[in-house]
Amino acid sequence: MDANTIKIAITEHPVQDLIRSRWSARSFSEKAIAQADVETLLEAASWAFSANNSQPWHYIYAHHADTEAFQKIWSCLMLGNQPWCANAAVLMVSCIHKVNAEGKPNNWAMHDLGAANATLMLQATAMSIHGHPMAGFDKAKTIEMLNLDADILEPVAFLALGYLDEAEKLEEPFRTRELTARSRKGVGEISERL
Ligand SMILES: Cc1cc2nc3c(=O)[nH]c(=O)nc-3n(C[C@H](O)[C@H](O)[C@H](O)COP(=O)(O)O)c2cc1C
Repeated sequence: MDANTIKIAITEHPVQDLIRSRWSARSFSEKAIAQADVETLLEAASWAFSANNSQPWHYIYAHHADTEAFQKIWSCLMLGNQPWCANAAVLMVSCIHKVNAEGKPNNWAMHDLGAANATLMLQATAMSIHGHPMAGFDKAKTIEMLNLDADILEPVAFLALGYLDEAEKLEEPFRTRELTARSRKGVGEISERL
């Protein structure tokens, strides 16, 4: 069975196929993602909900072909992410704006960025692009390498994007992870009806 088949969510309830089909892949092919498609993904992210429509997100990205820029982002990843991310077609750093236009803290920025990233990933799934969010990166190095003003922007999650390749080309332990079925807590465990 291929990874895509193994990873599709087996659900208790009739969840939409797009949601069931998104999963965090590690084996990316050499195929580039067209710039127009990257912009489609970013526009999808921009249509996520956010507190007061504040849209407190910012994406910094490089295509694999942008060798120097790609390397800059890749070098900020932890060792557990670097091997397979080297083959991503696009690496993104998703950031929050820490303060709003009045200089007050954007208290829901983390929530809003998560919603934007999820929306981006679902759009990617619909376009047969696989994505993988990551918190395994060096924040101080990212701020330095990308010349971020740390009072304004905070890098929160990296996103690896690309077209799926065979799991067999991954080294262990990544190959096994690529071929292991996904699981979730049950609805009864994550919710309660008062
Ligand atoms: C904020 C966040 C940080 C994550 N960090 C990493 C990471 O550093 N490395 C990694 O391999 N996966 C990372 N993941 C992926 C999760 O492990 C994955 O989403 C989870 O196991 C569920 O699998 P699925 O996305 O395939 O459904 C992260 C996911 C999120 C949302």
